[in-house]
Amino acid sequence: MPALAIVGLQWGDEGKGKITDFVSDSADCVVRFQGGANAGHTVEFGKQTFKFHQVPSGVLHKKVTGIIANGSAVDPDELMSELKTLADRGYRISKFHISDRAHLVMPYHKQIDGLEESFKGGRAVGTTRKGIGPCYSDKASRIGFRAGDLLDVESLGPKVDMAVRMKKAYASALSGELEVDADTLMKKLVEWSRALSPYITDTSHLINDMASKRKNVIFEGAHGLMLDIDHGNYPYVTSSNIVTGNAFTGSGMDPNHRLSVIGVLKAYSTRVGGGPFPTELSDEVGEHLALKGMEVGTTTGRRRRCGWLDLFAAKYALSLSGATAIALTKLDVLSGIDRIKIATAYRYNGEKLKHYPQSVKVLENVQPVYRELRGWGEQLDEGVHRWTDLPVETRRYISFIEESLGVKAKRISVGHSREQTIIRGKLSFL
Ligand code: IMP
Repeated sequence: MPALAIVGLQWGDEGKGKITDFVSDSADCVVRFQGGANAGHTVEFGKQTFKFHQVPSGVLHKKVTGIIANGSAVDPDELMSELKTLADRGYRISKFHISDRAHLVMPYHKQIDGLEESFKGGRAVGTTRKGIGPCYSDKASRIGFRAGDLLDVESLGPKVDMAVRMKKAYASALSGELEVDADTLMKKLVEWSRALSPYITDTSHLINDMASKRKNVIFEGAHGLMLDIDHGNYPYVTSSNIVTGNAFTGSGMDPNHRLSVIGVLKAYSTRVGGGPFPTELSDEVGEHLALKGMEVGTTTGRRRRCGWLDLFAAKYALSLSGATAIALTKLDVLSGIDRIKIATAYRYNGEKLKHYPQSVKVLENVQPVYRELRGWGEQLDEGVHRWTDLPVETRRYISFIEESLGVKAKRISVGHSREQTIIRGKLSFL
């Protein structure tokens, strides 16, 4: 019985939260293995809507153990407020763990994120300013604070002093001034330690134990593969690896456990922040997608850039993901568009590219090669439960995607709620 990873195949916001929550019925454990509060998942559970940034989407299910694993960047303040919101709404999360190896987003990381972005000026990435890049930078520089440090907070004095001195010097080099001193930081760490220590443990041990007992473990990817720090549109990427291989590194799961993968693909494209976007639309169709799709960032409230589905990019992402099936989301948003375009290839300097390019400069100058399909006027968000309930044009659109990518759309989402999902075959243990 393999574990299952759910990964986004675009630039994030593909609807992974809904798919994770949907499959969590059959799960024993849901693991976040990268990213932090820069991610945002919207989940409809019963009649309530939840917006998660850090807790795994499956935690609303009583039997599910939620884990924030070592590859994540944990923002303690945001996590505590998320847990409080859940408790206030009647959800007591008892089975929840944070890896003792996960790095902590410190208050100065957020400030430095902003200072670095301002310093870059026209070369800014358009980050969420949640401190994710600076946190992972400190991890690589071996000066980060980890969740495990909160278990021995009394011994952190010298490390806190060093961090404050170093970060003050860096902030001033960026023409800023750090708003933190060692005493305030120490008080923060004590507060975090009190609130979060009960959850902090060796989660790799827990995950391996569950996988060995053939429990159903789900890995919930954050963001989307095109934002992967190695394989995405560098430097317009996030600071962690999103590719499925990182489910092992980012959680410590023994690679001998088999992992099957579902890729989540939105029926059109969106992107937040800077970076190349060959199929971007700045016309009324783009406006339609943004308004009907409610394309506003869960984390930042920024309006997302919208465009046609890009299968050239999706094919590349799929090959990195190992996905053997996809969940296709937000098809209902396309209702009412007469002719729908899908990019199948890129032309650069008059030639069709054989492979997805690494260069942002190339990506900014490619011309997408489009296939045009007939759209549909019918709304899909009511009374559509089976494949045969879909208009013939919608089925053609889906079949074209399946044939181009060589995988089946085993889950098709036509609205926010769980009922608005068409199921076509089994996924791993489901
Ligand atoms: P960071 O992850 O905050 O450093 O931001 C780096 C880039 O990734 C920016 O373009 C963000 O808008 C983008 N990004 C980060 N997380 C998400 C997400 O969950 N959805 C969409 N874009 C994201």
